[in-house]
Amino acid sequence: MRTLITNIAELTTNVPTGGDLTGTLNDAAVLIEGERIAWAGPAADAPAADEVVDVDGRAVIPGFVDSHSHLVFAGDRAAEFEARMAGQKYAAGGIRSTVSATRAATDDELRARLRGFLDEMLAQGTTTVEIKSGYGLSVTDEERLVRLAAEVTPEVTFLGAHVVPADYADRPDEYVDLVTGPMLDACAPHSKWIDVFCETGAFTVTQSRRVLESGIARGLVPRVHASQLGPGEGVRLAVELGAASIDHGTYLTDADVDALADSHTVLTLLPGVEFSTRQPYPNARRLIDAGVTVALACDTNPGSSFTSSMPFCIAVAVRDMGMTPAEAVWAATAGGAMALRRDDVGVIAPGARADLVLLDAPTRIHLAYRPGVPLVRTVWKDGRAIG
Ligand code: NIG
Ligand code: FE
Repeated sequence: MRTLITNIAELTTNVPTGGDLTGTLNDAAVLIEGERIAWAGPAADAPAADEVVDVDGRAVIPGFVDSHSHLVFAGDRAAEFEARMAGQKYAAGGIRSTVSATRAATDDELRARLRGFLDEMLAQGTTTVEIKSGYGLSVTDEERLVRLAAEVTPEVTFLGAHVVPADYADRPDEYVDLVTGPMLDACAPHSKWIDVFCETGAFTVTQSRRVLESGIARGLVPRVHASQLGPGEGVRLAVELGAASIDHGTYLTDADVDALADSHTVLTLLPGVEFSTRQPYPNARRLIDAGVTVALACDTNPGSSFTSSMPFCIAVAVRDMGMTPAEAVWAATAGGAMALRRDDVGVIAPGARADLVLLDAPTRIHLAYRPGVPLVRTVWKDGRAIG
């Protein structure tokens, strides 16, 4: 089956053309064949198809690639959010309350919640999702979380080193022994990535190095939570170990920025976190101008960022982090793909997966210009139209 989407006023391909990273085409068309893109170009040159979808002068972008989420959990922390909005500070310790609720939930309860989040994300244009464990913190529970995540995405991250659980509070190094030993043994078969929360209140740089190196030895690729609550050495550790991404980066030093600019490590910014914890927004403008590759992700989790909306994150990144709409959309699509080391998503080019979003707008600028408005009209995931 060949489906031609035509009369696209603005097509963001992310195939760089003459200095334009977004490879934007006007009056364009895209041909989908099965699960893949077969062709993209000027509407006037479009090949024949079995079915034609005329989008009447609207914008089309690649499906969003959300490279950072924590979707396997139970419970709710609305009261913690309410307290924060009344002045309380965010601290990593809140994670433990989600751990208790998650351990008490059945596989089917976790599955139902997880599928609900994925549906919610798809309706908002997200077609690729990375999912972390990290609310189990025991061998059995972490294995359960990565196994459930692997049922719905190949982008599974083992984050046994999220925080030290209460029963190991006075012997954190023993917990790191567990994470790098039996827990890794149980989780590695279901995972592609290894992650650690390298931060005061979570894991030290020395402990983080042990976690990441043990994952690398098992064939997992590192990604790191760092510099979320204050400056630290996590970014440089991530770069040194060749991490695909360092995520958060709310408090970056000049040395961090230089190290990132000189590396293949993507910086994944998570505007939902600063929004929901009332922390200062990182200056994406300074980072992009310094040559850092920036991705945007939602970090959907019950504590620091309970949004699953990439359009919302784009709007905040443009409004408060100094990104242009084109940069923000690139970061939420091609940037996310780079953070996951994928070249078959985040791009509208022959051979790529047919994951596209039709906006109810003539240009992607509306994603930031009309914040909070449901502009995602149709999503194609693996060539199938939804909505
Ligand atoms: O990415 N930083 C660590 N982990 C999550 C927060 C998890 C939570 O508060 O439950 C994050 O922000
Ligand atoms: Fe996170």
